[in-house]
Amino acid sequence: MAGPAAADFDAASYPPYETCALCHGLFGQSRTAKFPHLAGQKPAYVQSQLEAFLSGARTNDGGQMASIVTELKPEDFAVVVEWFSDQEPPEPSPPPADNVGMQLTEYAGCLTCHGENGAENVPHLSAQHAGYLAKQMRDFRDGARSHSDAAELHRKAFVSFGDEIDQVAGYLASLERSP
Ligand code: HEC
Ligand code: HEC
Repeated sequence: MAGPAAADFDAASYPPYETCALCHGLFGQSRTAKFPHLAGQKPAYVQSQLEAFLSGARTNDGGQMASIVTELKPEDFAVVVEWFSDQEPPEPSPPPADNVGMQLTEYAGCLTCHGENGAENVPHLSAQHAGYLAKQMRDFRDGARSHSDAAELHRKAFVSFGDEIDQVAGYLASLERSP
């Protein structure tokens, strides 16, 4: 029962998404809300965020992503984007106990853009970690995530949500993500 010989080990042959696995999971499903699920996320959106971290336009990550992306070779970007967006989407979380989040989401029209048939640059929010979504919403609200054209719309919406940000996040996380 010999395992692979040590001489066969070749770090350079490891695919670039191995470096993402520590935080995001090898198959894009992360264990904690600090790290977003990437599995089944839209490729154009994932690509746009990697570019934003690389250029320094998106900085609301405590510096983690900003340094990781500098280690990717130019040809690695397409490989990691394809790998994660092709994975099975995460399971939604259990539905919240009340309808507050659902009502606010409908009232604010979030799913007109974020619904399952939305544009390629609009991320899936469904089945994402609620804690991650809530952090992003507070980052938009407080101006810590301001790099996209959509930032001002989000800032205004989330100022008006108050603490109900958590209920909206909980509702969105409970929605099924279509592959
Ligand atoms: C040391 C931990 C760590 C590693 C390794 C890491 N990331 Fe991240 N990543 C994060 C954190 C933390 C965030 C969320 C930042 C925030 O809260 O805004 C994030 C966010 C992202 C996002 C934004 C997702 C969204 O929904 O907006 C993408 C895309 C991403 N990472 C891709 C990658 C890829 C591809 C790799 C490997 C090349 C990688 N990450 C490696 C910690 C990490
Ligand atoms: C006009 C279309 C549009 C509407 C309406 C809209 N969004 Fe967005 N949303 C976007 C786009 C585009 C992005 C990506 C922004 C970027 O590139 O950083 C985004 C990003 C997000 C993110 C970050 C997701 C991630 O993975 O990091 C969250 C959370 C979010 N929106 C929540 C909401 C909520 C809640 C509402 C309802 C109040 C809403 N959005 C309404 C277009 C929209």
